[in-house]
Amino acid sequence: MKTLLSAAAVIVALALPGQTVHAAPAQAATSITPSALWLDDRGEHINAHGGGITKVGDTWYWFGEYRPKNAVPGRRYVSCYSSKDLMNWTFRGLPIDMTAPENIGPNWVLERPKVFYNARTKKFVMYMHIDGPLDPNETNPHMAYKLARIGVAVSDKMTGPYTYLRSFRPLGQESRDIGQFIDDDGTAYLIFEARPTKGFFIARLSDDYLDVVEETAFIQAPIEGGALVHHDGLYYLLGSGLTGWRTNPNKYATAKSLKGPWSEFRDIAPPETNTYQSQSTLLLKVVGSKQTTIVFMGDQWKPDSQWDSRYLWMPLEIGKGKLWLPEPHEWSIDVKRGTVSFPTKKP
Ligand code: DGJ
Repeated sequence: MKTLLSAAAVIVALALPGQTVHAAPAQAATSITPSALWLDDRGEHINAHGGGITKVGDTWYWFGEYRPKNAVPGRRYVSCYSSKDLMNWTFRGLPIDMTAPENIGPNWVLERPKVFYNARTKKFVMYMHIDGPLDPNETNPHMAYKLARIGVAVSDKMTGPYTYLRSFRPLGQESRDIGQFIDDDGTAYLIFEARPTKGFFIARLSDDYLDVVEETAFIQAPIEGGALVHHDGLYYLLGSGLTGWRTNPNKYATAKSLKGPWSEFRDIAPPETNTYQSQSTLLLKVVGSKQTTIVFMGDQWKPDSQWDSRYLWMPLEIGKGKLWLPEPHEWSIDVKRGTVSFPTKKP
């Protein structure tokens, strides 16, 4: 029986696009090491780039761009992983596995998926950056970012499958990199970069989360990869510069209200490190019994071998209007207490 079960597990694993099967990790992870290979429960490097996190109960779900080595031409995927400690992640499948919607053509783009759970409708709503060339037959990859839309998909279950509904330009604006934010009162917001405006928006979702209905703030700054957190009475907003896959010094601003006024943008790390070679994707708030920890989630892209792109997750030094990304180092978190430790860091 045991042999039969493990044979079945291998077959399921092999059936996933572009996957190679390694031996499962021998023991549970007790820390996170930025830039290292980060193995899931199957011993595979986690493949969830430009990610978002959704927490329900005591479980975090990590959604991201699934970029396998041997992707089927024209197909795009979103992966999902779950964890109860933020260090060990279980692969939960591909809630999105689809060809181009709305006749966008095979050279299309799906990036930065984010899932919101709507407690009122009990639906899981996924937003993603959907893009493609103006002409569906266009094959030049440089033309693949012309539609500048968001896509919406919905499911009754966190892990999907999700039903794709439609794509559109939120508030009529071009939209590329997106970010997600839920305020303390449960209101959900989408952050999106709108190149022609030379800035980006924080926009409120409708009560059922299926639409983007109201501009909360427009911030005139050349920022993408937008991420937002509310901490100790202040909103902290950060993002990267507009250099595409190449890294740059990510910056942050603060405000007492989401509507602003927002402060000037300041560096989150020594600018010469280019954010330690990473780009922001989310600020994750972990509220424990002893402490609240805000985790910077960044991507270390490898544009020519995306499946091997790495993650830079680090607890931030944050408070009283200051935010700082410490030099990346192995760290560990106790999610119940909200505390972090640095097992190998010399004093
Ligand atoms: C396009 C941006 O230019 C890149 O920096 C990166 O954010 C990707 N989108 C992936 O989301």
